[in-house]
Amino acid sequence: MERLNKFIASCGVCSRRKADELIQDGRIKVNGEVVKDLGVKVSLEDKIELDGKTISKEEKKVYLMLNKPVGYVTTASDEKGRKNVLDLILEDVRVYPIGRLDMYTEGLLLLTNDGDFANKLMHPKFEIDKRYVVTTDTKVTRQMLEALRNGVDIGDYVTREAKVEKLDEENISITIHEGKNRQVRRMCDAVGIKVLKLKRTNYGPLSLGELPVAKYRHLTDFELYNLNK
Ligand code: URA
Repeated sequence: MERLNKFIASCGVCSRRKADELIQDGRIKVNGEVVKDLGVKVSLEDKIELDGKTISKEEKKVYLMLNKPVGYVTTASDEKGRKNVLDLILEDVRVYPIGRLDMYTEGLLLLTNDGDFANKLMHPKFEIDKRYVVTTDTKVTRQMLEALRNGVDIGDYVTREAKVEKLDEENISITIHEGKNRQVRRMCDAVGIKVLKLKRTNYGPLSLGELPVAKYRHLTDFELYNLNK
């Protein structure tokens, strides 16, 4: 027996926290009955449904890389009716994003229905490097780059050391391993760099490569092996 929210999360539907919301919103049925009690425990014999569709742990696992376009949100449900990255995914299983990119940021986003895998990658202890390219019209000085490298105060947090490189007059690359809300934008803001465009190009060992904007592909076995290492 396990808690209903844990069961839902391990089916790859969403995080445990989100599962609590689904339960409270009355979207989950256990053996045909809507269950709103967060304390309920279930087993593999129980029939669990989300919005009328059975969810189970037996589903084929899929691992996708999307080149997220600007203007799409990555949250599972959006009360403002904005475009959602899930609208771009045409698979016969439900997947959800591993971590987040803000609405105005584009680039590499992983999605999966493997809840255990997603929760592992998102755990802060793994400190996965994420590389972003910032396009700016600010004249970036050496002092600015140094400050970004050493860590800057973004209000509620001082960022850890980052790898920072000036690529050319308009682009800098910033690699961080934390994932505070809008961290790169807030870091740039803190040192006076105006962000015209923000794109994630790498996630751990994975690289976006030539994947066109709004397109996705399945990860290769080699990429999965590298991510699991
Ligand atoms: N930093 C940001 O500012 N936005 C993101 O989406 C990710 C990192």
